[in-house]
Amino acid sequence: MTAPYTTAEFAPVELPTTRTHLFDPAPELSTLREQRPLCRLRYPDGHVGWLVTSYALARQLLLDPRFTVRKIRSPVGDPATMTAFYDAMGDLPEFDGILMEHDPPQHTRIRRALAGYFTVRGIGEHRASIERIVAGRLDAMEAAGQPVDLMETFALPVSSFTICEILGAPWSDRERFERPSVVLQDPHASPAEKRAAMCAFMSYCRDVIAQKRAEPAGDLLSDLVVRGELTDAEIAGVAFQLFAAGHETTSNMIALSTFALLCRRDRWETLRADPSRVDAAVEQLLRYLTILQVGAFTRTALEEVELGGVRIQVGESVTVSLAAANRDPEKFSDPDELDLSDDAAGHVAFGYGRHMCLGQHLARLEMKIALPGLTRRFPTLRLAVPAEEVSFSDGEHLLYGIHTLPVGW
Ligand code: HEM
Repeated sequence: MTAPYTTAEFAPVELPTTRTHLFDPAPELSTLREQRPLCRLRYPDGHVGWLVTSYALARQLLLDPRFTVRKIRSPVGDPATMTAFYDAMGDLPEFDGILMEHDPPQHTRIRRALAGYFTVRGIGEHRASIERIVAGRLDAMEAAGQPVDLMETFALPVSSFTICEILGAPWSDRERFERPSVVLQDPHASPAEKRAAMCAFMSYCRDVIAQKRAEPAGDLLSDLVVRGELTDAEIAGVAFQLFAAGHETTSNMIALSTFALLCRRDRWETLRADPSRVDAAVEQLLRYLTILQVGAFTRTALEEVELGGVRIQVGESVTVSLAAANRDPEKFSDPDELDLSDDAAGHVAFGYGRHMCLGQHLARLEMKIALPGLTRRFPTLRLAVPAEEVSFSDGEHLLYGIHTLPVGW
């Protein structure tokens, strides 16, 4: 166990978010992990909590039932903007089924209602549709001609169409959840714009549920409506989080992985020459890129907890940097390398513990079909602009990702 800190070491830091290399998290995170893997963190609203940067402490914390997810306190962002955002959203009716907002027993009950659809076997039933979707988007890329934006033509529709298939929505509905999601994630959108986006997204979810109630069709949302274990408000919350998480995360991972492989051409060639390496490659890419860059959602101590040699007091917030944990040399042999032959098993890109990503097997399957699909169809794929011109979400975005990825072949 780390020795207790001296008073001088308790000086709080702000969450480092500025990257100096495209694919590496902010360098200060490595220094913190080496020197103070559990350190004081100053949140933008001024209160002081904790930041975890080591792999071992991240897993220990995320597994500990003495922390709640019920008080969300962002470790980044401008406090005035956040207050304006919460004020603008304040009177909207809450969706009840959002897993990341619940502790047991509600969390257990809702997660149990969904778990069967998201096992390896449950997700495996969608393999043929995902293969069809990927093939269709590869055709669309070819038809569009080069240069083409891989995000818009391939990664985003692959993820959106897939989540539509699973939830039982027509592909054309993607507009109704993609647009509001962009606005909700945009740090420059005004509170009024965010409120309008949230209302539009909520009304879409209610429409889908009403339609499933009128005509159940054997898909996930129809099943939930028919089984009657969750309330309508909970099913709407489930729809909201699955439509949102189901397309934003995976599309970013597909586009960012392609970008990383193209920047390290030998890695692209390795995967192209031997697609059987895709399982290991996907785990490495998930670890190396860790797109949930700001951290796992914040936890708050429900009782006094001793962690890593310090005492966390009741009510104190803790943020886990998943990106820092996934670069911990005590766990991974060459953590800053994208080594496709190395074993990245046990990474925490999907979190850990009871809130570990529900959609992880879906994300993996989409990547395992999409990436070899690209190397097969476009073996000579290349960036159509210099790497430095590719535009990224900044360090304060919850997700690290690309806006557009122009490619040719
Ligand atoms: C590569 C893609 C993805 C990444 C990197 C990712 C990452 C994560 C992480 C780190 C968490 C845990 C957050 C925490 O503990 O604070 C999480 C939770 C979650 N993810 Fe994902 N995710 C991905 C794809 C998906 C997909 C495709 C879906 C849905 C179809 C999904 C649905 C969820 C849900 C519902 C939760 C909350 C689980 C709970 O609280 O029990 N994710 N994800």
